[in-house]
Amino acid sequence: MNIVNVDYDGLIPNNVGLNSDPRVKAALEKWHPGYINWWNDMGPEGFQQALVYLRTAVSVDPKGWAKFDYVKMPDYRWGILLAPQVQERKIAFGAHKGQAAWQEVPGEYRAMLRRLIVIQGDTEPASVEQQRYLGKTAPSLYDLRNLFQVNVEEGRHLWAMVYLLHKYFGAEGREEADELLQRRSGDADTPRMLGAFNEETPDWLSFFMFTFFTDRDGKMQLEALAQSGFDPLSRTTRFMLTEEAHHMFVGETGVGRVIERTCSEMKKAGIDDPSNLAAIRKLGVIDLPTIQKKLNLHFSLTLDLFGNEISTNAANAFHAGVKGRFQEDKLSDDHQLEGGKYPVLRFLDGKIAAEETSALSALNMRLRDDYAKECVSGVERWNKIIERHGTPFRLTLPHVAFHRHIGEFAKINTDPAGKLMSGAEWEKRKNEFLPSNTDRDYIEGLMKPEMTPGKFASWISPPKVGIDNKPGDFEYVKMAG
Ligand SMILES: [Fe+2]
Ligand SMILES: [Fe+2]
Repeated sequence: MNIVNVDYDGLIPNNVGLNSDPRVKAALEKWHPGYINWWNDMGPEGFQQALVYLRTAVSVDPKGWAKFDYVKMPDYRWGILLAPQVQERKIAFGAHKGQAAWQEVPGEYRAMLRRLIVIQGDTEPASVEQQRYLGKTAPSLYDLRNLFQVNVEEGRHLWAMVYLLHKYFGAEGREEADELLQRRSGDADTPRMLGAFNEETPDWLSFFMFTFFTDRDGKMQLEALAQSGFDPLSRTTRFMLTEEAHHMFVGETGVGRVIERTCSEMKKAGIDDPSNLAAIRKLGVIDLPTIQKKLNLHFSLTLDLFGNEISTNAANAFHAGVKGRFQEDKLSDDHQLEGGKYPVLRFLDGKIAAEETSALSALNMRLRDDYAKECVSGVERWNKIIERHGTPFRLTLPHVAFHRHIGEFAKINTDPAGKLMSGAEWEKRKNEFLPSNTDRDYIEGLMKPEMTPGKFASWISPPKVGIDNKPGDFEYVKMAG
């Protein structure tokens, strides 16, 4: 079997030798029509017949795995792609450290692995559902194409998890795979499993914040699963990470381009005060204080995805060798953490303070800390754009206790600096910290589609370079008819 090149002959492109695995092949072919129905019902609305300049993975070779071409999204070749097997790979952490990585699911960890795969799998179609109406208000064909690229790849990530369920988890796995197509983001009766994936993505600034913050949570979870002793999960998530990088690029450059446009228009108009919303909004750009509020919202919603700071599940998964730490293989400790300590930020005796906690129980907190470090760097890159324009404003990440619904800080209210406040004060002041209805209405009012090749909506700058090095006026999406 050639594991680098992908077999594109059958219904389901793959590099897992599906042809010599008739049981799994039949199960996936049976799942396929339901997937296509889901895509047609819940995928990008109004653009299913458009020709989109998309990249498709044609190999899992780190150099040059992507091929760009015009594709109608329902015809996208969603495939099952695993990164190459590492010869004689060993489990790198936990109680089984040093043993050969598992090629089959160990019976004792079956339920745990299935749960982790289902939770990851559930997020993938959820984001497609959340973003399905955005195409109608795209600020350019370039952005429209990027949205659709992210969407088809999230669809492929669903395939990646569904393959594992079908291949390794028998009848229960098939049932879970069917249910992944039945839940719906934001549905009152059958919602998606995690909170942030049931929120709306009502506008493009939300989309960019989501791909910066929430796709980055996805990256951290995938990084932790890429360390797994269950080798097929490790290989699957390693390849997903190569796609995930583009999603975060879309988010970071998207927000950066919004900031760029705001600062340059303020300068042109001679407006120095970033809080002069009335004047700035007349320019048709998004003021920096509102960008900060959106940032506050998306960062805080995403932190909830890391779960409780102190977690027995996280400890068990690490001990079992099922889910590692971020860059586990680059860390230099004993990789077992049995007696180790880690500082966890807690709410104790009316104060927010760090407490030394068992390192195993603190693994969610640790992953969240690694995540926040990356977010800080991204926010600093946005601040560089603001600085370059000489605008007196800085974006900051809110305190981790701000606006939380899960974990230590779910019960308290704080301002973005982490200062405690009463519930009544929060109600009175929350519109200072999070987008108000007025802010939302203003942003929504800006969301007018710009579908002329090379043109951009008033509130966002063009990108520095095109996708696949295409020129500025390239027609990334050709409408049907
Ligand atoms: Fe994904
Ligand atoms: Fe993603």
